[in-house]
Amino acid sequence: MSDAIRPQPGILDIALYEGGKAHVAGISNVLKLSSNENPFGPSAKAKEVFLRSVHSLHRYPSTDHAPLRQAIAEVHGLDPERVICGCGSDEIITFLMQAYAGPRDEVLFTEHGFLMYRISALAVGATPVEVPERERTTDVDALLAACTPRTRLVFIANPNNPTGTMIGAADVARLAAGLPPQAILVLDGAYAEYVPGFDAGLALLEGRGNVVMTRTFSKIYGLGGLRIGWGYGPKPIIDVLNRIRGPFNLSTTQLDVAEAAVRDQDHVAKCRAENARWRVWLAEALAEIGVPSDTSMANFILARFADAEEAEACDNFLQSQGLLVRRVTSYKLPHCLRITIGDEASSRRVAHAIAQFKGLR
Ligand SMILES: Cc1ncc(COP(=O)(O)O)c(C=O)c1O
Repeated sequence: MSDAIRPQPGILDIALYEGGKAHVAGISNVLKLSSNENPFGPSAKAKEVFLRSVHSLHRYPSTDHAPLRQAIAEVHGLDPERVICGCGSDEIITFLMQAYAGPRDEVLFTEHGFLMYRISALAVGATPVEVPERERTTDVDALLAACTPRTRLVFIANPNNPTGTMIGAADVARLAAGLPPQAILVLDGAYAEYVPGFDAGLALLEGRGNVVMTRTFSKIYGLGGLRIGWGYGPKPIIDVLNRIRGPFNLSTTQLDVAEAAVRDQDHVAKCRAENARWRVWLAEALAEIGVPSDTSMANFILARFADAEEAEACDNFLQSQGLLVRRVTSYKLPHCLRITIGDEASSRRVAHAIAQFKGLR
């Protein structure tokens, strides 16, 4: 290939995103706790709509997503005109980068923040700036101190992946208020539904022009395989994002299934309650055998081991038992394993296996 053919600056600095493992060679009874998926899957109503969607596959989808935006707005008490839907919340993150960051601009995120912030910043030629956390928790003072005249976007996931920790509304408000005037705060609420009574920053967003929220159907809604997410923000920002959104970025199936899913809040409540129950149980079971974790508000816990070697050995042992959890070395946490909260049987199985591993040492 000619030397003159080159990708845009930043692209070759991207390390490929690796999803959670799904298979172990030679083992059929694999339990996947590596991708923060909902063990109960989607609402039965959403599944029915999925099956029915086969009859309209020859039709183009709506371009404005009006029924889904309306459903999201009704459930959350929002203005439908300020909702934007994307192919996973990843696509909303991409829109924000494309619209607001480019070469010489800085994009801030936290030390153990979601990997897609770095990847999508590099994809638009912006400079990713990783800001230290305090005890695996977002540090607002450090973020504010890292802002410069070039800062365009500041991402925090609240709760954060892979730490599971979160910061309170007063801290988020302080961050929004302290940003330079050209910067947007993005509140990534991928796990917000797991926190009882949490508004994911909506009240703050209403009073400000510099805050955007992203949400997903991949976690508590159990629809990771279908790829649907949404964002909410000030009208001028959402109008900008809609200009770069492909007119058919979501299929009819995605749109209709997500609408049924968001309207079934009973399913959401059931999944939230089960998750909280087994998250507490698993964290306590592991703490008792010398594997601590921070209090998680999401659908996983970050189990801490003595060092990277022990974490790797435990991961290998779990894999030999058909149990897949997530190594988080790429999140600068080589001594930790992120374990998705499953149902009762899965939680008992993974706790038992880690206890066995500890006993073997
Ligand atoms: C913090 C965070 N944000 C965003 C996403 C992206 O979710 P999706 O693109 O499936 O909506 C994830 C997925 O793991 C996540 O952990």
